[in-house]
Amino acid sequence: MRKQKYKVKKKNKKTLTKLSTKILGVAESEEKYLVKREIEKEEKKSKLGFNNLTPREWALLSKNVINENEILNPVWNDLSSPRNKYQLEHGAVYPIKLAERLIKMYSAEGDVVFDPFLGIGSTIIAAQSQGRHGVGIELNPKFSNIAQQWLSEVQGLFANDKVYKIINDDCRNLLKHIHKDKIQLTVTSPPYANFIRKSIEDRTTTHKTSIITHENNSTVKPYSDHEQDFGNLPYKDFLKGIKEILKDNLEVTKPGGYSCWVVKDYRDTKNKIPYIPFHSDLAAIGQEVGWLYQDLIIWDQTGQRRLVLLGYPSVFYVNQNCSFIVVFRKSK
Ligand SMILES: C[S@@+](CC[C@H](N)C(=O)[O-])C[C@H]1O[C@@H](n2cnc3c(N)ncnc32)[C@H](O)[C@@H]1O
Repeated sequence: MRKQKYKVKKKNKKTLTKLSTKILGVAESEEKYLVKREIEKEEKKSKLGFNNLTPREWALLSKNVINENEILNPVWNDLSSPRNKYQLEHGAVYPIKLAERLIKMYSAEGDVVFDPFLGIGSTIIAAQSQGRHGVGIELNPKFSNIAQQWLSEVQGLFANDKVYKIINDDCRNLLKHIHKDKIQLTVTSPPYANFIRKSIEDRTTTHKTSIITHENNSTVKPYSDHEQDFGNLPYKDFLKGIKEILKDNLEVTKPGGYSCWVVKDYRDTKNKIPYIPFHSDLAAIGQEVGWLYQDLIIWDQTGQRRLVLLGYPSVFYVNQNCSFIVVFRKSK
């Protein structure tokens, strides 16, 4: 009898774990970090939090360091497989799984998700899979066309009744396209000033024969020669421009809505600047235009990046194996 009871309990636990893995896309091992008593107490109240998250889902999604294995869930496996034909056309996309996770955390079904630097459309594809409406702006027509094709393909396979809009324009014009207080969540990754251009120049000159040329970011290419492209601006002008985008982004966001910026910090060793803290500069300008600095999430990319020898043998630099997700919130 006792044995049977134990079996039932074990089975229930297994089903629960399976369920949370399926619903959340987080790996089973996360379960052991939950403060069980607190969560069970909340679950008894059977009240859902905003975005219909259960207390368990809420807790599992709330870690401030997320790693690839966790986003890289076997149920979805969009990271473990090679990049698809659309993703291969762009040098710097983020995984759909990452955007989906942020969408689950900060919006509910039927909300509008926005990306001012849409690229080939990852944010909209994630919004589509999560039943949110989506709107995105992309300057380069090649990328906005790819986004359109990719969206048509997924809509053909898993059509829903939500509305999607892909705009080929400079995101400095975002107020022309989007009304005030419409967006619940922005998920985006801007170009990093002219760092990509610089690092490519650097690679073809200084590091011609070094390990850096062969092993680090070697597929990254500049987005375009367009003068409106943020990827062609020196850092100071770039920050000024991004500040304006953040201001307009705040205006189109609903009170209580969120804006998540996936960014990396950089170095400019040629100009003897060892470290450029883009994520904290971004957080500062966001607050200057009125956003609340809500959270900082670290996206551990250790498995994606090989270690390279930086500065050896004269000066020690660490390999930067993570990106930052700067999370802003609009006050109510
Ligand atoms: C880091 S990529 C974004 C990639 C995107 N997250 C994805 O997964 O496809 C930055 C994008 O911003 C675009 N971009 C640069 N300047 C822009 C501008 N002024 N307005 C709109 N898009 C711009 C670039 O063409 C590039 O595709």
